[in-house]
Amino acid sequence: MPGIYRLMINLKKIQVADLEGKKILLRLDLDVPVENGEINDDSRLESSLETIDYLLQKAQEIIILGHLGRPAGKDEKYSLKIVADWFSKNFEWETKEIKIEDFDGFQVAEKIVLLENLRFFKEEEENNEDFAKKLASCADLYVNDAFAVSHRAHASVSSITQFLPSYAGLRLQKEVEELSKILNDPVRPLTIIIGGAKIETKLLLVEKMHHLADYVLVGGEIAEHTRELAKVAHEKLAGKKSILFVADLTSDKEDISEVSIQNFIQVINSSKTIVWNGPMGEFEKCFDLGTREIAKAVANANVYTIVGGGETIEFLRKEGLLKKFKFVSTGGGAMLEFLAGIKLPGIEVLEK
Ligand code: 3PG
Repeated sequence: MPGIYRLMINLKKIQVADLEGKKILLRLDLDVPVENGEINDDSRLESSLETIDYLLQKAQEIIILGHLGRPAGKDEKYSLKIVADWFSKNFEWETKEIKIEDFDGFQVAEKIVLLENLRFFKEEEENNEDFAKKLASCADLYVNDAFAVSHRAHASVSSITQFLPSYAGLRLQKEVEELSKILNDPVRPLTIIIGGAKIETKLLLVEKMHHLADYVLVGGEIAEHTRELAKVAHEKLAGKKSILFVADLTSDKEDISEVSIQNFIQVINSSKTIVWNGPMGEFEKCFDLGTREIAKAVANANVYTIVGGGETIEFLRKEGLLKKFKFVSTGGGAMLEFLAGIKLPGIEVLEK
């Protein structure tokens, strides 16, 4: 059995904050999949509403911070206007463009403003302190409810906490609570399935999972890149019981092979806890057999199941399988890093 890894996280929670009459900066996960001017999956936005409602009971104003995609500087294609419109609709309001200090933004409800994509400024990803200070000057208190970006040491996630009393929102608390259970005391065998294409984020995590998982299944684009790593990982894993399976891909490399699908299903059926992050193939281009078969196997396994990652969730929702998962994490890379036992910069700064 892999080594027992215990992580105790004691967060500063919004339930203990004095919110009365305060202006609150609220960092949210606004990075939603957008296609042809439509939001494909709004689960990240839906999951932020509980914290917003909680803060609204006492706050004077909420200023929402977030990003969309990976723009290189200001780029209308990555404007958060589409997200602002989603919130306005939810609050039965009409989006109005406004300005706060040097920041463009949108009024989305009587007491709620949403600032334009922070990644339009390079200072955001540089974790620039002056930039964070400028953001902080807009409010009295800071709340992070953006678990999916908590693995990034960015200004609106990390530096900002130097300048304002800072707390964890309800969604962030829930994520830490659920994922800590897996990290600290999973029902075994525990299988972690990793797919998708964010190679630079996910590749190194595959190997780190041996601290935790009994089985690690790798599909999707990263399977191809994992082969070399797998050799090293197998050597490192010698003597440990954690087993790494890297899928064979189809000849066009767009999906995992049918033999790999069957092998993965066999492992899934023998597991008592399953964590899944990342599709098995290019399902958007109709190479969806691997993702669909794995989705059905995990969804129908009568065990504790967790899923994370924007594309995986989008797929499961379309297939009507999302509700079958016991916990849906808003995090993609953040969820994997957390489970790999890495301290997330956005969470570390909120610990007591
Ligand atoms: C995500 O979608 O996982 C988060 O928004 C982080 O995005 P990033 O990988 O571009 O930092």
